[in-house]
Amino acid sequence: MAKRVLVLNGPNLNLLGTREPEKYGSDTLDDIEALCRDTANALDLSIDFRQSNHEGELVTWIQDALNTADAILINPAAYSHTSVAIHDALRAVALPVAEVHLTNIHQREPFRHHSFVSAVAVGVICGFGASGYRLALQALAEKLQ
Ligand code: DQA
Repeated sequence: MAKRVLVLNGPNLNLLGTREPEKYGSDTLDDIEALCRDTANALDLSIDFRQSNHEGELVTWIQDALNTADAILINPAAYSHTSVAIHDALRAVALPVAEVHLTNIHQREPFRHHSFVSAVAVGVICGFGASGYRLALQALAEKLQ
């Protein structure tokens, strides 16, 4: 059976395409979803792709993943830098986690240099734009073999 990956996107990522395109690129979140679906098909993964602007909703989806997913790919967006709740939820479900950021957060403002998610992720990919999602799915597919 195909392994299942929950792909989560945090706040403001619904605005991709028009949001600071010089930083985040011109791909929309729909474009990124299409890239993830193509990649998942090629890797024989099934994906559930979601976005929320609400921390609690992301926490609930992470909790639900315990019964519905084999791994999580998450771009927590601004919650990376603030959310102990998302850190705790990821630690609680104990599924393999890949953290993705479109931008290289270490080259940006100091408040973006720390992510609460990194400590509970298998690995972090940042700075490669939308390709980071493809790279993270490849890494998770290998991890799940
Ligand atoms: C982001 C980086 C975060 O610092 C920022 O708050 C985002 C997007 C990225 O993908 O580069 O919303 O996670």
